[in-house]
Amino acid sequence: MKAKIEELLARVEQFAPRSAAEVEEFRIRILGKKGELNALMEEFKSVAPEYKRELGQRINALKNAATERVNALKEQLQNAASAAAARIEDKSRPGSAEPLGSRHPISLVRNEIVDIFARLGYTVADGPEIEDDWHVFSALNFPPEHPARDMQDTFFIEKNPDILLRTHTSSIQVRTMEHQKPPIRVICPGRVFRNEAISYRAHCIFHQIEGLYIDEGVSFADLKQSLLYFAKELFGEKTAIRLRPSYFPFTEPSAEVDVSCSLCGGKGCNVCKGTGWLEIMGCGMVDPNVLEANGIDSKKYSGFAFGMGVERISMLKYGVKDLRLYFENDVRFLHQFDSAL
Ligand code: DAH
Repeated sequence: MKAKIEELLARVEQFAPRSAAEVEEFRIRILGKKGELNALMEEFKSVAPEYKRELGQRINALKNAATERVNALKEQLQNAASAAAARIEDKSRPGSAEPLGSRHPISLVRNEIVDIFARLGYTVADGPEIEDDWHVFSALNFPPEHPARDMQDTFFIEKNPDILLRTHTSSIQVRTMEHQKPPIRVICPGRVFRNEAISYRAHCIFHQIEGLYIDEGVSFADLKQSLLYFAKELFGEKTAIRLRPSYFPFTEPSAEVDVSCSLCGGKGCNVCKGTGWLEIMGCGMVDPNVLEANGIDSKKYSGFAFGMGVERISMLKYGVKDLRLYFENDVRFLHQFDSAL
């Protein structure tokens, strides 16, 4: 009998009704004339006298608990119902706001970068994600079998070495030169693909933004000044840049661009690994071979190009430590960028 009382008590405590009708049904089943509690009372009559005291107390406690629970639930459901009714009734109340989506942090940063270059007169150019060898490598001065091709772990399509997923947005440079004569000033955002192991700092899909400027008399000083303007606009007026010599097949000379660490102001912290500098992109003067391969007279024209990873810049700008967060679409992460619209 003790077990029966316990079991009924547990059921009373766990009862979670969705409507007032369910509460009433429950009340009748437990507390009603022919209910389970009265059945227990009946059984109680034949209990041995030495157990009467303890079991009697338990039954009373059960009865009180059940009555209280039923009353509390009834009240709760009634209140909710009348509040809902009042909301509908009062038509002058302001409506409740629809939950709004927000822009993805990668889109936010891409738009910001595109806007900065738009102020310098750049227009947006686009190109396909499935490319051929010419636009991704050959026209950009990667000779066949050149070891520089190993820098980029290419995904080929159906074992055809000519058709591939673009590994960088530099392919859009080529597409632009094909149908535009200098002066050319384009900014090319896009998705790129590399056969890399996914980790906190690398993914097989990511985003790049490429820039290309070709005209008569374009110099390395123009490149440096444009990038300084860009860095200040994106990371703040106090930002400095530094260029380190590097190598890319499609630019000569080539450089790696660092910005002063916006977190520590250049003093050195764990984000910049104590150096005070953060690498943000590659750049250089367009190699005359590239201009010629794309039908542009390299004696008359010169140009510069640059390319950056959007995830990397977004991580630096927002202090995001794991690149994979950008691809998981966890709304708890994404909602943190609501106000950045
Ligand atoms: N395409 C290069 C990469 O994916 C980035 C790059 C470097 C682009 C230098 C450029 C450039 O236009 O001039 O690593």
